[in-house]
Amino acid sequence: MRLRSPALALILSSCAYPSIVCAEQQQPFILNHEFPVREDPFYEFRWPVHKVGIIGAGVGGLITYRTLAQAGYDVRLYERDHHPGGVWHYTEETPLNAPIPNLPVVNADYTPSLPPNGTRLPHEEEHFQVDENWLTAERKAHRLPKPVWASLKSNAPHIPELHWPEDLPWEISAKQLQSYVRAFASYHSLNTNDENPNVFYNTRVELIEKRFIDGRHHGWTMTLKEFIQTGPQSYKVKWWTEDFDAIAIATGRYNSPSVSPITGLAEWNDKFPENIHHSRQYRRPEGFTNKTVLIIGAASSGAEIAAELNTFASKVYLSTRVHPHPHYPLELFIPFIPKNTTMIPEVKSFNPLGTATKMSEGTIELFNGTKIAGIDHVLVCTGFRYTYPFLPQYINPSLRGNETASEGPQPLVTDGSHVRSLHLDLFYIEEPTLAFININGGMQSFVYAEYLAAAAASVWKGHAKLPTQNEMWRTYSQRLRDFGGIFEKHWLFLGSGAADGEMRYFVAWVNEAAVRYGGKQINGPSKA
Ligand SMILES: Cc1cc2nc3c(=O)[nH]c(=O)nc-3n(C[C@H](O)[C@H](O)[C@H](O)COP(=O)(O)OP(=O)(O)OC[C@H]3O[C@@H](n4cnc5c(N)ncnc54)[C@H](O)[C@@H]3O)c2cc1C
Ligand SMILES: NC(=O)c1ccc[n+]([C@@H]2O[C@H](COP(=O)([O-])OP(=O)(O)OC[C@H]3O[C@@H](n4cnc5c(N)ncnc54)[C@H](OP(=O)(O)O)[C@@H]3O)[C@@H](O)[C@H]2O)c1
Ligand SMILES: *[C@@H]1O[C@H](CO)[C@@H](O)[C@H](O)[C@H]1NC(C)=O
Ligand SMILES: *[C@@H]1O[C@H](CO)[C@@H](O)[C@H](O)[C@H]1NC(C)=O
Ligand SMILES: *[C@@H]1O[C@H](CO)[C@@H](O)[C@H](O)[C@H]1NC(C)=O
Ligand SMILES: *[C@@H]1O[C@H](CO)[C@@H](O)[C@H](O)[C@H]1NC(C)=O
Ligand SMILES: *[C@@H]1O[C@H](CO)[C@@H](O)[C@H](O)[C@H]1NC(C)=O
Repeated sequence: MRLRSPALALILSSCAYPSIVCAEQQQPFILNHEFPVREDPFYEFRWPVHKVGIIGAGVGGLITYRTLAQAGYDVRLYERDHHPGGVWHYTEETPLNAPIPNLPVVNADYTPSLPPNGTRLPHEEEHFQVDENWLTAERKAHRLPKPVWASLKSNAPHIPELHWPEDLPWEISAKQLQSYVRAFASYHSLNTNDENPNVFYNTRVELIEKRFIDGRHHGWTMTLKEFIQTGPQSYKVKWWTEDFDAIAIATGRYNSPSVSPITGLAEWNDKFPENIHHSRQYRRPEGFTNKTVLIIGAASSGAEIAAELNTFASKVYLSTRVHPHPHYPLELFIPFIPKNTTMIPEVKSFNPLGTATKMSEGTIELFNGTKIAGIDHVLVCTGFRYTYPFLPQYINPSLRGNETASEGPQPLVTDGSHVRSLHLDLFYIEEPTLAFININGGMQSFVYAEYLAAAAASVWKGHAKLPTQNEMWRTYSQRLRDFGGIFEKHWLFLGSGAADGEMRYFVAWVNEAAVRYGGKQINGPSKA
């Protein structure tokens, strides 16, 4: 049998290509936070944490639910989709077209949908005879079909209580991984058919606001919306609120597309919306038979989709940027891109279409001056942005990478390229009863979530201690200085070395607290 090692899986999941090549390319930065000493002053929570809301039933949210429930918390799980699995819920249904240009980051995923003013909650509505196209768009926006394609190969290490069969090949289909994550959900009675009163599918978190008791901040209020399509032209919705002491946000990293602002692309998209798609909408290659396709961006999605399209399309252009990617440089992907793919430099502009009646009549211009005509389809594979539409109060798009807020709380999100203001990329330093699960790149989601969840469980009980806010900001600023002083999209990238170091830190921290206060000790990441 092939060993399913977390370390190897990490590398594969981050770049999908053989470990040797990737491992050499990694430049993990080392986090230099010190281990808190028993006598050090620590952050004191202003209210006890009993009831925790978890957002997202992907592998991260499911692991977090299991860990917090076993630690004795009163837990609720909310998932906008109708099944568990997160990214690993493949459907033929595709997400809506990515808006071009990008929407503002605050509502790049969705604009929160709130109950009509003045209604008493819970509030339910049922609608009939609505426009079918409108309803389809509404359904897609609510559940957000996931960005995986039919032939996608994947790999993930097992979750401790659910071993993979011994003879399973190293690479499996996304469908198999989907079944595995569902099996894990079922194992803990969290699946859709388990009728678990603490688990809510079809339910999107719309807003999280501070809750006040006697004028003092005490926990959080979530506004929730359940949306169920009941027929081809009918649906029902329900809004309600729920109060929590703490919230774990496990909404994944791929909810909001990032489209490069290339001159003229918006005009092309307005005129030929059926011929321009983001990688999140790609499902299968047949529709591209005998077509000329331009793929923009050559990281995991672009390179893999290009390889698949090449056997169907008549010509595939793959446009890459000149500047090197610090972690996964282009050279890494080139050996896996079929030789008959036409590699081209960055696109400078999509030229005005004038009276063109087909997209192939338009021309594009590359930065090296060459013009290309005859493109039937464009696939934008330029990645995703982080955003949390339910926390608009902590999103400040006006800040640049070298700027911090001069007043008020430091934000979580600015331009969507990264998430900031977190201790250990987990606790929001301004409000440590908000925790983020699996936001890093260059780690293995199926393993890393275990340590994040265990740390949250221990910290919110008051066992493992967080440093004071001043101390968290001090180590944070030091880390930013070590990183070069400017936040950018690689801020959350770990790589296997740093991810391993972080997991060991979590183990030592949680276990030290368990020795002192009792509770479950956790095992370190297994070395392969
Ligand atoms: C194309 C592709 C290939 C990949 N290949 C691999 C691989 O081979 N191996 C690997 O280990 N990883 C791979 N990954 C990474 C993958 O994201 C992780 O394996 C895993 O899905 C992360 O789990 P998660 O729970 O953190 O997030 P997700 O799986 O993204 O789950 C987040 C969940 O939150 C829900 N949600 C979001 N917003 C809300 C809201 N407002 N209210 C309620 N629910 C909400 C979503 O519907 C979703 O179900 C790949 C990713 C992509 C895009
Ligand atoms: N099988 C798998 O394991 C698998 C498959 C697919 C995806 N994934 C995962 O899914 C996530 C998303 O991957 P992704 O490939 O969709 O996004 P991504 O990793 O963010 O890559 C986007 C790419 O587009 C490039 N780009 C941006 N603007 C461009 C422009 N104007 N012209 C040319 N290139 C441009 C970027 O280059 P710059 O760096 O220069 O900005 C980058 O290389 C990753 O975490 C990945 O690991 C995994
Ligand atoms: C509903 O109330 C909010 C806050 O009071 C207000 O900003 C908004 O304009 C109101 N909307 C309508 C439709 O009345
Ligand atoms: C693609 O082109 C080939 C060769 O010209 C032709 O035989 C085939 O029918 C075409 N397929 C489609 C779907 O147009
Ligand atoms: C590219 O080569 C592969 C085989 O390596 C072949 O199957 C495919 O049809 C070719 N594609 C094009 C566009 O020539
Ligand atoms: C520009 O790039 C294209 C595609 O790679 C290439 O064919 C062409 O020769 C290049 N032109 C210049 C001037 O370098
Ligand atoms: C941030 O960088 C921009 C240029 O990119 C510069 O104009 C601005 O002064 C910088 N701000 C700070 C606070 O350094």
